[in-house]
Amino acid sequence: MPVILAIESSCDETSAAVCADGKVLSNFIATQAIHEQYGGVVPELASRAHMQHIVPVVDKALKEANHTLAEVDAIAFTQSPGLIGSLLVGGQFAKSLSLALDKPLIAVHHMQAHVLANLIDDPKPAFPFLCLTVSGGHTQIVLCESPVKMKVIGETIDDAAGEAFDKSAKLLGLPYPGGPLIDKYAKEGNPNRFPFPEPQIAGLNFSFSGLKTSILYFLQNAGKSNLFKEEFTATEEEKQAFIQDNLADICASIQHRIVTILLNKVKKAAVETGIKEICLAGGVSANSGLRNSFQEMGKKYNWNTYIPAFQYCTDNAGMIAITAYYKFLEGQTDPITISSSARAAWSSD
Ligand code: KG4
Ligand code: ZN
Repeated sequence: MPVILAIESSCDETSAAVCADGKVLSNFIATQAIHEQYGGVVPELASRAHMQHIVPVVDKALKEANHTLAEVDAIAFTQSPGLIGSLLVGGQFAKSLSLALDKPLIAVHHMQAHVLANLIDDPKPAFPFLCLTVSGGHTQIVLCESPVKMKVIGETIDDAAGEAFDKSAKLLGLPYPGGPLIDKYAKEGNPNRFPFPEPQIAGLNFSFSGLKTSILYFLQNAGKSNLFKEEFTATEEEKQAFIQDNLADICASIQHRIVTILLNKVKKAAVETGIKEICLAGGVSANSGLRNSFQEMGKKYNWNTYIPAFQYCTDNAGMIAITAYYKFLEGQTDPITISSSARAAWSSD
């Protein structure tokens, strides 16, 4: 029965969603285009845009779900992690609504919500399942035993996968965010032409900073000498010409390496845990190379694989709503005095 209104404002998307009885009825997302010209998210501009968007976005989500504020049973919001000014806008708005309507408040951890985006549509994974969450800020493998019991069993020790895509794209002179552009050019390229080295990191953790350095050297050498080492044999003109002539193969090779770094650890996690229900989550799961290789790997190893619909992969309030639904069922509501931005416990690590 519970009707939940959820708000997400952790970074640069202002989003509101309504879910009733575990079904997401609306998921409205206002994207902030203003950051493109700065090559990354500007926190102060993000908070201001959230202030402008939040009322119309909540209105639209309620209308689309055919519900009124009076029918809402609980208000949920993203508590962490995120940009502090951005989190505060959604958090304070949710608290004000909770106080005015006298309805329970539910603080949601953004990373738990990315994982549970897999429970929005059918078919849903069975518990326990593994989830590879890959976004601009995070790269994690999560073991999920129930909607409210999860454990991070692997994560990046430096850059996130999305950052690896975006920073590689920047080195190629592509605009921010470059991940989708690498994906686009990679479709025409040969992924095996430039074999970027794979980092050797113990356990289930990831590292992407070495890849970034080898791409930097590779471009500075412009194919003239030892590909991935610091030699700097090419001029700037030669470098630009090299990028132009080989863009598709370079993008395909970078994407191939990022995807193999990710999926080799997923394979290791599946072997170590014996779990064959495996999910993707986060904005980088939009990457076609990752999706294809993930599904092929699933067939090869007999996994059941799951990827949320695109609108639930990037930052969205639908995933906050579904997480709040399960927390509500467990009686996990929060007092109005809870912090709007503090790091909350969400996994047993
Ligand atoms: O989850 P998300 O929307 O926001 C964060 O919470 O970070 O993820 C955004 C990240 C960016 O780094 C973006 O470049 C990357 O996801 N991304 C992609 C693709 N679409 C989005 N990376 C590679 N290929 C894509 N198709
Ligand atoms: Zn996110």
